[in-house]
Amino acid sequence: MTTILKIQIKTPNNRAVQTDQKTNQGQPQIESPTQDIHQSKSSSESNQESNQGHPKISSPPPDLLSVQGLTITYEVDGEITQAVSDLSLTLKKGETLGLIGETGAGKTTAALGLMGLVPHPPGKIIGGKVVYEGEDLLQLSEEKMRTIRGNKISMIFQDPMTSLNPVMTVGDQIAEVILIHESVTKSQSVTKAMEMLEMVGIPGARYADYPHQFSGGMKQRVVIAIALACNPDLLIADEPTTALDVTIQAQVLDLMKALKEKYNTAMIMITHDLGVVAQVCDKVAIMYAGEIVESGPIRDVYQNTQHPYTKGLFGSIPDLNSTAERLNPIKGLMPDPTDLPSGCRFHPRCPEATALCSTVRPEPVITNAGHSVRCLNCQPVPSTVVPPEALKFVAQESHHV
Ligand SMILES: Nc1ncnc2c1ncn2[C@@H]1O[C@H](COP(=O)(O)OP(=O)(O)OP(=O)(O)O)[C@@H](O)[C@H]1O
Ligand code: SF4
Ligand SMILES: [Mg+2]
Repeated sequence: MTTILKIQIKTPNNRAVQTDQKTNQGQPQIESPTQDIHQSKSSSESNQESNQGHPKISSPPPDLLSVQGLTITYEVDGEITQAVSDLSLTLKKGETLGLIGETGAGKTTAALGLMGLVPHPPGKIIGGKVVYEGEDLLQLSEEKMRTIRGNKISMIFQDPMTSLNPVMTVGDQIAEVILIHESVTKSQSVTKAMEMLEMVGIPGARYADYPHQFSGGMKQRVVIAIALACNPDLLIADEPTTALDVTIQAQVLDLMKALKEKYNTAMIMITHDLGVVAQVCDKVAIMYAGEIVESGPIRDVYQNTQHPYTKGLFGSIPDLNSTAERLNPIKGLMPDPTDLPSGCRFHPRCPEATALCSTVRPEPVITNAGHSVRCLNCQPVPSTVVPPEALKFVAQESHHV
């Protein structure tokens, strides 16, 4: 675990080069999402390319999930908590997004919003869209949403230890989900449940055991098996390893990574842990006080960190390579979500704040390909117009690789 942290602890910008060098020397790598895309390319696509002498620059695959401006509040005793504000993100099939943030940042609420599970009251979706395979989930009836949950989108809840039924065998709990979502007989569901147990590394013969007969790590594997039982296209995992010790944590993460690669499942991994994100994610979004303050491809965000809050997060993790005697934690506390500061929500804690920051609310700006930052000090990168000749050249070059 410590080794993994070594790559994320880097102070932004000036340590980026150092990280690259290490990567080349066989240090743990932040994986590139493009590898997956190439691997999953169909053979007919590849043939098409080679037949034409040079590869086509194909348009990127469509988004599996596109969340736009999702805003969720809770109202308790007349006080309104701004739990999630103007949250936007996209995810393609097979991609993994890490959603990071301090406690109370709004991560679980955002996930519940995607699943149509925000408790109402006190929760309320104030605005936004959750477009999944071209359909806005927020407009669907509860009945239709029930068919999507489990079948297409599954969630591992934040406290998995309590999400198992103590008086039902683990096998029956997996089989039940299969029976609800698939047209199979009872005995077929039992067979598939045993296969799922084996898939997460538990002997099928333990089908008839009860949760109390399992260790914490095994229970977590059962929860993962339940979430994956119907081969969802999207898995939302809300802190799936937080309650586990470090060794089991690593095993469960390896398992999730392997399953994701095997089934090309898209995943949103919610966590406090920058190490977990570096290990399994292609993209990352950092939440602060209900907003995504920085997001983008993991390599870009980790090596070219722009937002002062994200810089603070990296600065508050111990670095074994650093000679500094003290950590540099972010000063102050998250604001009260019922009484958020004006302007930039981070301004009372921000070491880079200017006079403008307390009055003007920053909008996200794109600073680099897919790298978005919500900070008044960040300038958008002007879009670059690439002449067609250059594109052809790039295509031919890549053909030779
Ligand atoms: N059912 C609820 N009723 C009222 N307020 C709620 C409810 N659930 C969450 N909140 C509030 O919404 C805000 C966001 O909470 P949320 O659970 O989404 O944060 P989180 O980022 O998942 O935190 P953690 O890392 O601790 O799990 C918090 O201020 C929380 O107190
Ligand atoms: S907008 Fe201002 S206060 Fe907010 S993160 Fe940027 S510099 Fe800091
Ligand atoms: Mg949570």
